[in-house]
Amino acid sequence: MSQTDQITITRPDDWHLHLRDGEALKSVIGHSAAQFRRAIIMPNLRPPVTTTEQAREYRQRIMAAVPAGSGFEPLMTLYLTDNTTPDEIIKAGESGIVYGVKLYPAGATTNSDAGVTDLAKCMKTLETMQAHGIPLLMHGEVTDPEVDIFDREAVFIDRVLLPLRKSLPELKIVFEHITTKEAAQYVAQAEGPIGATITAHHLLFNRNVIFTGGICPHYYCLPVLKREENRKALVQAATGHNNERFFIGTDSAPHAKDLKENACGCAGCYTALHALELYARVFDDHHALDRFEAFASLNGAKFYGLSPNSEKITLVRQRWQIPEQLPFGEETVVPLMAGGILEWKNA
Ligand code: NCD
Ligand code: ZN
Repeated sequence: MSQTDQITITRPDDWHLHLRDGEALKSVIGHSAAQFRRAIIMPNLRPPVTTTEQAREYRQRIMAAVPAGSGFEPLMTLYLTDNTTPDEIIKAGESGIVYGVKLYPAGATTNSDAGVTDLAKCMKTLETMQAHGIPLLMHGEVTDPEVDIFDREAVFIDRVLLPLRKSLPELKIVFEHITTKEAAQYVAQAEGPIGATITAHHLLFNRNVIFTGGICPHYYCLPVLKREENRKALVQAATGHNNERFFIGTDSAPHAKDLKENACGCAGCYTALHALELYARVFDDHHALDRFEAFASLNGAKFYGLSPNSEKITLVRQRWQIPEQLPFGEETVVPLMAGGILEWKNA
């Protein structure tokens, strides 16, 4: 039987990326730029990026850090708060640099304290987004401490997403970093403009990896990894036929090593270094390399109303070892599967 040893696809985009700021930004941006042409940049800085003006300034800092000649383009987002005004949305729409508005339920994840306490407070703003075709990018988890952490995404669908979509059926929504069979099924079958990003780590691992041989903080992210049946549903969504609603979003979320290996470790997996190679493993394992390009390079652009990139990228079958750690400003960051072997390499 012949084996595919090389794949060439349209250069992909990363539809969910944390680049951080300052020296950390300078350390990580080259990894994303080596693989992706464009990326949706998450606004959860401290303080968060809540206005178009702040997004413009952040974009300039990113552009100043982009390696020369890479052509990398950051697609900016605003951080939705209880106080985001319809006027701010109109400004964002006219700016030409803002591609979405991010919903962090207050307290759901890293730097989400300024997030939305109750979506009812944002209805006018969300209506304006619907009218101007600006997508809502959702961290889809409830924050109710009564709800088990492994159920927070499924409960979010019933408590928040369904009522929201009933009131605003034309609002474009990206259900970010989905982790459950409930979310995959909902997105596959729902009516209207909805898509979902899926991370490489949620396709590759179930929750056991967090607790194998001890507690492994570099596999802790939010939404947290789930049971195997959920991982399987995500793989099916990503690699299956005709699922143009699903696309890459690495959710690469670097934190300094000592903040991960800590009594109260931060959530986030660093995958910008090797995201495409991680995803390629999933598609290869499931005999779906012929469907990799749609998931990696076509579906997301289509959802956002953008053209696919014109240049190509080639991955070759070549074993290589993931470094144990990488520079991260003055500190270091540990990539996902540090020290492990991958079979595919960005040529
Ligand atoms: C993200 C981060 O560190 O900014 N962490 C994570 O675990 N994914 C925040 C987020 O996207 O939820
Ligand atoms: Zn994220």
